[in-house]
Amino acid sequence: MYNLLKGKKGIIFGALDENSIAWKVAERAHEEGAEFVLTNAPIAMRMGQIKELAAKTNSEIIPADATSMDDITNLVEKSMEILGGKIDFVLHSIGMSVNVRKGRHYTDSKYDFTTKGWDVSAVSFHKVMNVLYNKQAMNEWGSIVALTYMAAQRVFPDYNDMADNKAYLESIARSFGYFFGRDHKVRVNTISQSPTPTTAGQGVKGFDGFISYAEKMSPLGNASALECADYTISLFSDLTKKVTLQNLFHDGGFSNMGVSTAVMDKFTEE
Ligand code: NAI
Repeated sequence: MYNLLKGKKGIIFGALDENSIAWKVAERAHEEGAEFVLTNAPIAMRMGQIKELAAKTNSEIIPADATSMDDITNLVEKSMEILGGKIDFVLHSIGMSVNVRKGRHYTDSKYDFTTKGWDVSAVSFHKVMNVLYNKQAMNEWGSIVALTYMAAQRVFPDYNDMADNKAYLESIARSFGYFFGRDHKVRVNTISQSPTPTTAGQGVKGFDGFISYAEKMSPLGNASALECADYTISLFSDLTKKVTLQNLFHDGGFSNMGVSTAVMDKFTEE
């Protein structure tokens, strides 16, 4: 390990179980010398295994529903107390579509479901940055990262309204990132990750076909959760200080492919 985050303090949203991308980020951040607070929705806390992760990484847990300004405010205030100062990095690793959960087709969305999923998956990122910005809770040259998926740019029919939520999330990163950069020298980026076998990932219909198709299309193959964590650590480190307002593809090259020989072979099989 390289001590890339030595002395840095953070908040990590979204570690549900050991498959979660946020779980791997927490483990890697700990290895790189960071101290952080773990947070998740109160309901996820009862169902998940976050206590195990907290023990392993020597961190405290503060429950927060990321759609609640009160919860986020409490989280940020308590985190600064626990960590003894301002925050250097924040990971937003949160996503949920009620339409997907309830099996509603995209062409037949229920709009209170749409609104709830949008609030959890996209607006929560604005709310988190709102609190961090207005409380001046971030150190200069801090780094904020949210996770996204390429369905924000291209059609993936079964990704449902999460595609729209991700487009909105990526836009928030740019819009808020401008003010955060200008006023506090904090960078804001999204990482657009390969399909990954996690609870949220496997909620997408046809996920198995989807993940093997992406694997065959990508020259380097799909990126794992651990590889995503490594990339995230690089964005939290001082080695990427001038990277901001970006949507960064971490997908083994998938996003720039038209077709691969592996996929062509499937169509030319006798
Ligand atoms: P996950 O299911 O392990 O993590 C999702 C997290 O969101 C859970 O910890 C859940 O408790 C949390 N969450 C849901 N509602 C919340 C709320 N109201 N307040 C606070 N937290 C809440 O799955 P994964 O895959 O690790 O997801 C993390 C992020 O990565 C999500 O933004 C997801 O869309 C994104 N992503 C996932 C991909 C995949 O194929 N798994 C691909 C590209 C992006």
